[in-house]
Amino acid sequence: MAESIPKTITVNLSRTPYKVMVGNGLLAQTGQHAAETGLTGHCGILTDSNVATLYLKEVRKSLQDAGFHVDEHIIPAGEASKSMSHSEDACRAFIRAGLDRKSFLVALGGGVVGDLAGFVAAIFYRGIPYIQLPTTIVSQVDSSVGGKTGVNTVEGKNLIGAFHQPSLVLADPATLTSLPPREFREGFAEIIKHAAIRDPAMLDDLLAHDPNNATNLTDIIANNIAIKARIVEEDEKETSGTRALLNFGHTIGHAIEALAGYGNLLHGEAISLGLRAATILSEKLAGLDPAFSNKIIKTLHHYHLPLTLSPTLTTPELMEKVGRDKKFAAGNPRFVLLKSPGNAFLADVSLSDIRSTIEALRSEPNPTD
Ligand code: GLY
Repeated sequence: MAESIPKTITVNLSRTPYKVMVGNGLLAQTGQHAAETGLTGHCGILTDSNVATLYLKEVRKSLQDAGFHVDEHIIPAGEASKSMSHSEDACRAFIRAGLDRKSFLVALGGGVVGDLAGFVAAIFYRGIPYIQLPTTIVSQVDSSVGGKTGVNTVEGKNLIGAFHQPSLVLADPATLTSLPPREFREGFAEIIKHAAIRDPAMLDDLLAHDPNNATNLTDIIANNIAIKARIVEEDEKETSGTRALLNFGHTIGHAIEALAGYGNLLHGEAISLGLRAATILSEKLAGLDPAFSNKIIKTLHHYHLPLTLSPTLTTPELMEKVGRDKKFAAGNPRFVLLKSPGNAFLADVSLSDIRSTIEALRSEPNPTD
């Protein structure tokens, strides 16, 4: 795919401002942009077995051509690699390769690689810089920006981690063309979430885009990164409530994902169901106009995302998972609801409302024009 002039979004954090660049062909310019960011010396690329076959050679060459000494560590593709033991393996591999406190890491891959590599960078020699090279939609528009890093344990996802902001993010939309169709389309759930909470007009752009076309997405990706960047600037460590608004659709969505078994329903597919649930609750408890719920549902449907809950996922089991969600403040279900398009807020929601919403997900929605 031809290179394009990259768009640049700055994440204006007072202590650690950084650039997020979006453009086709950026992976091949990693070395040049790393050098311009002031990074020097020895770098360790962390990537997974799928992404390594596609892009490792190009990224390694770019870094070497810019004068960096490069080593790499490849993890098995999949959520199971986002673990303490894989973070220890990566640290030890990079220590053996000679990286030290003056080195930096490069996270090349999707959300698993980005979260793990960010965590390794946060703890390696008590913290070294890292660059994010996200290669999926969710990692480009969400997880590579904002410095949330971490690993999963059997007790839950992302329960161990650190805030550690990247020094640079290079999002190359050309990588999206190599995603299998289901993994390409699942990414739109997070984009639709951004539209719902901050930029409702984006739903029109999303409805106008062919859901099977993985090109011409630079503007949509850049707009989403800008939404994420502004939220992170307002509430870097998720203390004021603003960043928590990014959890719209995620409380029931995470419960569905966990119960289905990670990998059975892709994250974005579970979030699609969670977004439908959040619109039902928003209509009931916050007076959201059903026409806007309908538009969200139509957009999810346009990207072939699931909207009807499988009978194999029972309500008592889902309620049990919802109760374990770490987003619950002191045992109260804190939900993100929408008052109106683009206007989200945090609210207490009763268990009985959650239960009836889960039940409502069992019937097919009927999106109309
Ligand atoms: N993905 C949600 C956040 O970064 O806060």
